[in-house]
Amino acid sequence: MDKVIDFINVNRERYLEELKALLAIPSISALPEHAADIRRCAEWCGAEMERIGLQNVRLIETPGNPVVYGDWLGAAGAPTILFYGHYDVQPVDPLNLWESPPFEATIRDGEIYARGSADDKGQVFMHMKAVEAHLKENGRLPLNIKFILEGEEEVGSEHLDDFINSHKTELAADVVVISDSAMFARGVPSICYGLRGLVYFQIDLRGSSTDLHSGSFGGAVANPAFVLAQMIAQMKDRGGRVKIPGFYDEVQPLQEEERQAWASLPFNEKKYRKDFGVPKLAGETGFTTLERTWARPTLEVNGLLSGFTGEGAKTVLPAVAMAKISMRLVPNQDPNTIAERFEAYVKKLAPKTVTVQVTRMHGGKPWMTSFDNAFVQAAGRAIEKGFGRAPIFTREGGSIPVVSTFQEVLGLPSVLFGVGLPDENAHAPNEKLDLANFHNGVIASAYLYDEIARIG
Ligand code: BES
Ligand code: MN
Ligand code: MN
Repeated sequence: MDKVIDFINVNRERYLEELKALLAIPSISALPEHAADIRRCAEWCGAEMERIGLQNVRLIETPGNPVVYGDWLGAAGAPTILFYGHYDVQPVDPLNLWESPPFEATIRDGEIYARGSADDKGQVFMHMKAVEAHLKENGRLPLNIKFILEGEEEVGSEHLDDFINSHKTELAADVVVISDSAMFARGVPSICYGLRGLVYFQIDLRGSSTDLHSGSFGGAVANPAFVLAQMIAQMKDRGGRVKIPGFYDEVQPLQEEERQAWASLPFNEKKYRKDFGVPKLAGETGFTTLERTWARPTLEVNGLLSGFTGEGAKTVLPAVAMAKISMRLVPNQDPNTIAERFEAYVKKLAPKTVTVQVTRMHGGKPWMTSFDNAFVQAAGRAIEKGFGRAPIFTREGGSIPVVSTFQEVLGLPSVLFGVGLPDENAHAPNEKLDLANFHNGVIASAYLYDEIARIG
């Protein structure tokens, strides 16, 4: 391992230059005009896999964006890791809030700024560079590894379940490794053992066939913006509890040990508020901030659109109003069941004065695992070697839908070892990745393969 770590240290600057090239590709999966960039990015990742010495590299087509595959299977008798990551990124708007262009990676104060730096290209690249160090220095890896990189994670992984179901044999492994989450805090590395699920909707209301003069018609015809606001207001009570009938029926209560463990984590509420410019925290009564985001389900309005939003004033009764609404789910809530209950509730809330259309968008199941398995312990030792400190165990509020598919379809446990930071602006302007965490992450990843190989 010494030689491998030396290689990583010696090549630190080159690794960074190469990461910049990956970050330069605007592989935004949500926007059709970036389809060519998505493909270019998939090809770039494939070429990089070849360069670092992976074998059987190919793009596997799906009805959507290609999956990039590569493997190294030369360690007969040793365990096999299935590494999962995504090469697609979120849109960059509002562009004017970026301090440097989102696809020209820029280094400031020990951070690399670019869309995808933390979520997830930087973290994918970290594993590629760890593999490279092993293969270039030793000519082999201590275990077998299969890489799959998907290009639709940020739009709901629509085709990934089918892909996994139809490639079960090729994807056979002992454990899944994913780096697509954050550390608990700067200097506090962590392993994530739970993710929330998601179900996402668009609601469209129409109150008239065209916009109307609000003087001539106001008071006589329902205003869909107002109706929508009233409907949304009935989705949660003032204590932050979701009012959809049956919403909490399957929710697994927090374990007392978890509550105690989380209460002793170095979480500073005041700093959290200050970091994100929040005047006062809000959430479900009876739960702490960590409990609210890691272990409790919630409902959020992700977007609202109606009427006149330009400068100045326009007296208009909008014809339509639209909301994007999503719910984060926890074990054992099922996205389909919750979706049905939500739809039924929305239909019940909608008055006869408007027509309502409820469109279900993507979603995913929640996931949780116990962390007393040998793979997690191995990851813990690797992280300690890379970061000089043993990891703590966290859950996360975000979602990676495929993690539960790996469990259900392939029967595989996942180890989620993320090196992002909570304030690295994923999905927001000025996304960044800490360079020391990236470098230590490459080292920890290199150790991870070694540690997993040892448990055989
Ligand atoms: N990397 C995130 C998931 C994540 C966020 C894990 C925070 C841990 C902490 C992922 O790229 C993501 O953004 N997922 C989406 C899923 C959705 C599009 C189905 C999410 O959570 O909104
Ligand atoms: Mn991600
Ligand atoms: Mn994301």
